Amino acid sequence: MATNITFHAGIVGRDERELHLGQKGLTLWLTGLSASGKSTIACALEQHLIHLKKFCYRLDGDNIRFGLNKDLGFNEADRNENIRRIGEVSKLFSDACAITITSFISPYRVDRQVARELHSRAGIPFVEVFIDAPLDIVEARDPKGLYKKARAGEIKEFTGISAPYEAPESPELHIRTDQLSLTESVLAITKYLVEKEYI
Ligand code: ADX
Repeated sequence: MATNITFHAGIVGRDERELHLGQKGLTLWLTGLSASGKSTIACALEQHLIHLKKFCYRLDGDNIRFGLNKDLGFNEADRNENIRRIGEVSKLFSDACAITITSFISPYRVDRQVARELHSRAGIPFVEVFIDAPLDIVEARDPKGLYKKARAGEIKEFTGISAPYEAPESPELHIRTDQLSLTESVLAITKYLVEKEYI
């Protein structure tokens, strides 16, 4: 971290921002294997919330790697940095009163915990959503053909095959995409937001 820097707080506090913008910010942190359904659910959920007139924005693992995180690969240190940055960015969006939906594999428990604590220190709700389907099912889906390549040794350190995925132990929501339809998944997350009075 740089030295000789001073944090400059604004005049508008969270309560005042939420009051005048009419919305509470929070982060919905989707985690799960590649092809588990994170991006599909994130897109449909974003549309559903926008139709409910909620300011909502999606940060997607593949997409962010075209820009902000294009300097990062898939070794453990790069994934740590990927998630550290997204933890920071999602906190900023949610501080601005957005409903921020992140969809990253985020395979390491400690990285997700760091993101959670960052939000917690800022008083911003962090909702971990485990998008879950068994490996044999996601491997059979293989929409991008990446599992096939990983099995053939053409992709190194592929999550679930040759790199770890540490499943959440106590996520706020656990969505089984091999058991629920897309609509049911979106409605389960929306129901949680309503019950918690986040929306
Ligand atoms: S994370 O592990 O650092 O959270 P992230 O969500 O950003 O990953 O990116 C995952 C996406 O990158 C996958 O959906 C897949 O399309 C692509 N990808 C390319 N190489 C790998 C790899 N070695 N492991 C996992 N995903 C990969």
